[in-house]
Parts: sequence; structure tokens; C-alpha cells
Amino acid sequence: MTCQLLSGDCVDLLDDLAANSIDILYTDPPYIPPSHSSTLTKYKKTLSEMGILESFFKRFIEKVDRVLKDDGIFVIYCNCDSYAMFYIHLYPYVKKQRCFIWDKISCSLGYTFRHQHEMIICGERPNMKPIKCGTGDIFKYKVVKAKDKDHPAQKPVDLHTHILRNMIGDDTDKVVLDPFMGTGSIGLACKDIGCKYIGMEIEPEYFKVAQEKITMRDL
Ligand SMILES: C[S@@+](CC[C@H](N)C(=O)[O-])C[C@H]1O[C@@H](n2cnc3c(N)ncnc32)[C@H](O)[C@@H]1O
Repeated sequence: MTCQLLSGDCVDLLDDLAANSIDILYTDPPYIPPSHSSTLTKYKKTLSEMGILESFFKRFIEKVDRVLKDDGIFVIYCNCDSYAMFYIHLYPYVKKQRCFIWDKISCSLGYTFRHQHEMIICGERPNMKPIKCGTGDIFKYKVVKAKDKDHPAQKPVDLHTHILRNMIGDDTDKVVLDPFMGTGSIGLACKDIGCKYIGMEIEPEYFKVAQEKITMRDL
């Protein structure tokens, strides 16, 4: 298994990857609005801000299109705000889109409908072969406990392992690209599966945590 961890802005770093070199784009970008609850209370939505984010992700998808093989797949974590934007911008590059649900099994206490799921949009490239796994598309995995988190949006490694293992099967030559690595939960899943992984992260603090965790996983 090989892991390549790159520090910097993924929009620039993507230009350094060879064309048609990636099998699976599997990533968890920042959500719209931000998922940090402390930030959310102060967050004021504006359409112009959505426009900036939209043009960022449009450009991001164009860059991934260059490196993702034509039998590959886009797998992007999102919420109901960003799902529509990803659907529209993935549309020209894929033959089929589907939505997976991560069911967190329980929700926090409080008023109104409590949030218990995340969406994962998948875009299958024109030559992608059907995945012969026969599992459902709702995945039930508990969230990472607050005391164990190094990142406010940290995802459970076993969730990624389940999805990626079904996509990869026994072909550990497959290359997974994760341009929004955070603290490396997707890299850890790739390490457990034994496939190749390229992770990118803009924040030096999170990059260091990911680097340490992924390196330590072997020991
Ligand atoms: C939702 S978090 C990923 C969390 C990760 N899945 C985990 O379990 O730790 C998104 C990450 O993308 C990073 N990020 C945001 N913009 C970026 C960019 N342009 N290039 C690379 N990383 C970026 C953020 O710093 C953040 O750590």
C-alpha cells in the first residue's frame, strides 16, 4: 500500500497529478453552511457566498475530471444544501448519480427534527462497471465521540472502510484520492483495506494530525 500526503490547497495540488490516474475520488469537503455548531450560530447565509462556493466546487470538479479515470467514481460527502450544487456540477461528467445515506443511528436530544444523517453523492463515470456488492445504500455507523475527535467534522473510519471495501473488492491497486483530508479518517480506511491513497489538506495543523495517525496505523 502506498500513501501520498500533500499539504496545501487541493485546487493547486490537483494540477500536479497525472491525467487518468485516479480510480475513486472519495472525499469529505467542508459543508455549506459550516458544520461547526459554534460557527453555525454566528453564520449569516448570503446568496453571493453560495455563488463563491459554487464556483469553487465547479472548478474543483473540473480539475478532478482530468485525473479521474473514465471507469472511476466520484464519492462526495454533502448535506441538503450542497447536494444540489454537486448534483448539477457532476451531471456532465457522469452517467449515473446516486445518493447514499450515512445513518448515525441516534440523534442528540433537543427540539424539532434532530439531525441524524449525512448524504453522500456518488457519480459513476461513463465506463464504470457495476459494483457487485448487493448491500443497501443506507449505512448505519455511530459518530466519533466528542472526546475522541481531533476535527469537528471527523468521520468514523469503519464507515469509509465499509463503502470503500465494497467499491474496491480485492483490487488493492486501486487509487483513492481525498483532496479534503482533515485528520485522515479516509486515509486510515485505505490503510486498513490496503489500497493506494492520496490525501490533501490545507490546514497545517490538521495535516500534521493526519500524517501522524496514518503513519502510526502500521506500527
Ligand atoms: C469536512 S473536513 C474533513 C474531515 C475528515 N473527513 C476527517 O474525518 O477528519 C474538510 C477539510 O478540508 C480542508 N480544506 C478546506 N479547503 C481546502 C482546500 N482548498 N484544499 C485542501 N483542503 C481543504 C479543511 O481544512 C478541512 O480539514
